Amino acid sequence: MIFCITCSFCLLQNCKNSNETLALENVKKGQELFNTVGCVNCHSLDNKKLYGPALKYTMGKQVTVLRDSTELSVTVDRDYIKRAISNPNFEKRIAFKNSTMAKTTLTPLEIDLITEYLIAASDENALTN
Ligand code: HEC
Repeated sequence: MIFCITCSFCLLQNCKNSNETLALENVKKGQELFNTVGCVNCHSLDNKKLYGPALKYTMGKQVTVLRDSTELSVTVDRDYIKRAISNPNFEKRIAFKNSTMAKTTLTPLEIDLITEYLIAASDENALTN
């Protein structure tokens, strides 16, 4: 009986809506983490440069990084943001090559949530090399 009610509820509501709600919840959780685990000490989400780069991304944009002492042009995408958080020394934005971000103690799930938040907060005009 309960199964039937759940099932028709889902059909009536159109399950897409619940995915969108979930995505929004993840962004909010990511925002909360970003604001509480210390990221804000070094990163702003407007164009202010603190110790680290401002984190307003344009997804798909090219940035210049230093990886293994080699300059490379890479695309800002979900993977780029994730590896910047989980493995900060893998590559560095050229303008920040002498600054260091400590390796994080966040769980993979927490890194995913923060990544979703940073993507959601992405802004057309904000990314500079
Ligand atoms: C002690 C200061 C410091 C803290 C705290 C810090 N970062 Fe960073 N972060 C940096 C610096 C410096 C860089 C640039 C050099 C590098 O990539 O290692 C950077 C780079 C990044 C980048 C890549 C940015 C780009 O434009 O390429 C992301 C994404 C990022 N940090 C996210 C985070 C998140 C999320 C947190 C919190 C969990 C965090 N950082 C905490 C200093 C910090």
